[in-house]
Order: sequence, then C-alpha cells, then structure tokens
Amino acid sequence: MAMAGSAIGLGNIWRFPYIVGENGGAAFILVYVFCCLFLSVPIFLAESVIGRRSGANCRGAMEKLAPGSGWKWFGYLSVFTPMLILSYYSVIGGWSLNYLWKGMTLSFVRSGTEAVGELFGGFISSTWAPLLFHTLFLLMTLLVILGGVRSGIEKFSKLCIPLLFVLIVAIAIYSVSLPGAKTGINYLIRPDFSKLTARSCIDALGQSFYSLSLGMGIIITYSSYISKKENLFAAGLGTAVSDLMFAILAGFAIMPAVFAAGIAPGAGPGLIFETLPFIFAKMGVTMPWLSSIVAILFFLTVLFAALTSSVSLMEVGVAYLVEEKKMKRPLAALTVFAATWAVGAVCSLSFGPLSGVKIFGNDIFSAVDLFCSNVLLTVGGFLCVVFVGWKMKKEDVRDEFTNGGTKRLNGKWFPFVYFLTRYAAPIAVGIIFIANFL
Ligand code: PHE
Repeated sequence: MAMAGSAIGLGNIWRFPYIVGENGGAAFILVYVFCCLFLSVPIFLAESVIGRRSGANCRGAMEKLAPGSGWKWFGYLSVFTPMLILSYYSVIGGWSLNYLWKGMTLSFVRSGTEAVGELFGGFISSTWAPLLFHTLFLLMTLLVILGGVRSGIEKFSKLCIPLLFVLIVAIAIYSVSLPGAKTGINYLIRPDFSKLTARSCIDALGQSFYSLSLGMGIIITYSSYISKKENLFAAGLGTAVSDLMFAILAGFAIMPAVFAAGIAPGAGPGLIFETLPFIFAKMGVTMPWLSSIVAILFFLTVLFAALTSSVSLMEVGVAYLVEEKKMKRPLAALTVFAATWAVGAVCSLSFGPLSGVKIFGNDIFSAVDLFCSNVLLTVGGFLCVVFVGWKMKKEDVRDEFTNGGTKRLNGKWFPFVYFLTRYAAPIAVGIIFIANFL
C-alpha cells in the first residue's frame, strides 16, 4: 500500500493525461503500457532486490553491496533527483491547493462554463498567488516531515487512495457521457501510429519511471523495510498494475471532457486544471451543491495523493543529511525546504514573469520536468538494472527474488525476468535514451 501510495500521485492524474495529449493519444498509450510492463516492472523488481538484500537506503545499499566502488555516484544521484523533482512537484501541489480553495468558494459554479477556462490562465500567470500556494504546499510537506507523523499520513493515504479510485471512476463515467465526448474516447482507443515519434518513446519511458517512482532509490528505500517473507514479484506487479489502471482511468476522466470543452489535447501541464473545472461548472448549472462537493472532494484527494508522494520525496534528502552529514533532523528538513523552495519558486514564476525564458525551446518548468523524468530517472533506472543484472551475483538475485527458493512460481518466472533485467531493459532504455539526443 505504501508503494502504491508513493506511485499513485500527480503523475497519474496531472501528468499522464497531458503527456498522452501531447503525444497523440491511443498509440502512445500502447507504447506506455509496453514500457511499463517490460521495462519498468523489471527495474522496479531490480530496485526491490537491491533494497531488501541490503536492508539500507540507496547510498548505504551501494556501500553494502559494492563497497568502495564508483557505484556510490548512483547513490548521490538518487539523493539529488528527488529534491529537484520535489521543487516543481510542489508548484503543482500548490495549484491543487488553490483549486481546492476555489472549489470551497464555489468559484467554478459561479464563473459558469464560458468563463471557467480563464480562471487557470489568470492564476498561473500571476506572480504572487502561485508562489504563495507553492510555499503553503511545501510547508505542509515540511510539517509532516518535522512531526514525523508517518503513521498518520500512511493511514490517511490508505483511506485516500481507494477514495480517489471511486472518484475518478465517477468522474470518468460523467465525462464519457458529455455531449461531444465520443471524439475523446476515440482518441484514447483508436491508435494512430503516424503520430508516434522517437520523442514519444522517451516520453512514455520517462512517464512510466516517474509514475512508478523509479530511478531514484525510493523503491530501494521502501523495499529495505519489506519482510523477508513478502513476495517481491507480487508487490511489484501489484503496484505497477494499480498505477497503470489509475492512469488509464484518469485518461478517461480527462480526455472526453477535453474534447467536450473544446480544449486542445496538447495544452500542456494545465490540462486537468482547465478541464475538470469545466465539468464542475457544467454540473453546477443543474446541481450546484453536488458539483461543489465533488470538486472539493476531488481536489482534496488530489492534494493528499500529492502530499503522500511529496513527503517521500523530501524524506530522501532529509535522511541523507541526517545520516551522512550528521545534521539534526529539523535543520536538515529546513535545508531541503529552503533549497527546493527556491528552485520551485523559479519554476512557478516561469508561467508568469519568467515565461519568456526558454531552455532548449521549453519554459523553465517544462525543462526541469523533462530533465528529471527523461534524463535523471532514465539514467538512474538504467544503472539500477545494470547493477542487478551485471554486478550482483545471479544466485543472490535469484535467492532474493524467490525468497530462498520458497516461492516456486517466482522461480519459474525468474529466467524471463532475469533476461529482461540483464539484456532487454538496459539495451532498450539505452537506445531510447540515446535516440532522444539524435
Ligand atoms: N510517482 C509519483 C506520482 O506519480 C511521483 C513521485 C516520483 C513520487 C518519485 C515519489 C518519487 O505522482
């Protein structure tokens, strides 16, 4: 459940639908499912094997399994990446918080379907409001980290994730019943392979790493807490399948509404913040109270799904500073807070005053996001499978994967999974990564 909690987050609800929109729909989803099952699942399993075998966080795991080697850099990378991701994750977390506020103050119902689209553009291009909400979101994350209320947030996420599933199904049903939704449904189920490019493949791979929290040691850390009796294969497949299902459901909740609202599917990071309010405004014409309650529930759950992920992102840097640099926990937390706040502030301003600044043709926000998911996570994931496939002893990997030979079904699957880990995943990830730069 904790792994599913870390995996299911803004990546599924916010990022997946707009990346699908930018890459042409159904054909991209097929590539995504392929990447998820054949590349991400082996990487997930490789991370679990490293974590449970070593019983340590990423940096410590490298020291235990490959003492004194250059693999320590993989450890450092896994500390740096989550902090960079947190900085802009918090900006989107702030948007969700603001939209929760808008739901509470009935803004969607009051502005009506015509004007609701302008709410978003007006909000993100302003200077102070998004900064304020980014700060509030990061402060909430900091409070959880400082209070150490892990059991609290865990219990909450156990409640939220099923609730989120129920809500997304309800919204998807409403969304596909809207007039004009058919084009959106077709967009999701009728593949048009001419829209696929090399770029789509790296986007699909990056998205699946991002969504499963791979390539940065989070699964390594979580797996170090898993008992020796637990079935790693079942845990990995279970997490991957629920994450995948959630993303596809989010697609069906968002895309039909995108077409019904006449918004371009490739509208970028603001997609859910433009389409869901449209649904809420439309519902609000006949059922204003119901619409407001659903809007509040929806953004509240998005907020908590985001918080359970952001806490895990912040914890990595804090744990590193406490364990390796011997900092006191509050000081470590404040240090990570300050660094991520500053980078996040620049990302937030890139939708407003800094919108003219471009890095390789992208605004600052998108450049940081793409750099993290398409470069850092890909490199992290690649190193991880190389480590398990080539550096660790095959017998040790088999032993961990099959719980010392007691899980017979895992034993049957082992040759296939090991093949994926040793050859298919590193080669495919390597090719996709290099093709991205050609
Ligand atoms: N997987 C999370 C999501 O889909 C994002 C995340 C990435 C969380 C890495 C933790 C670590 O939103």
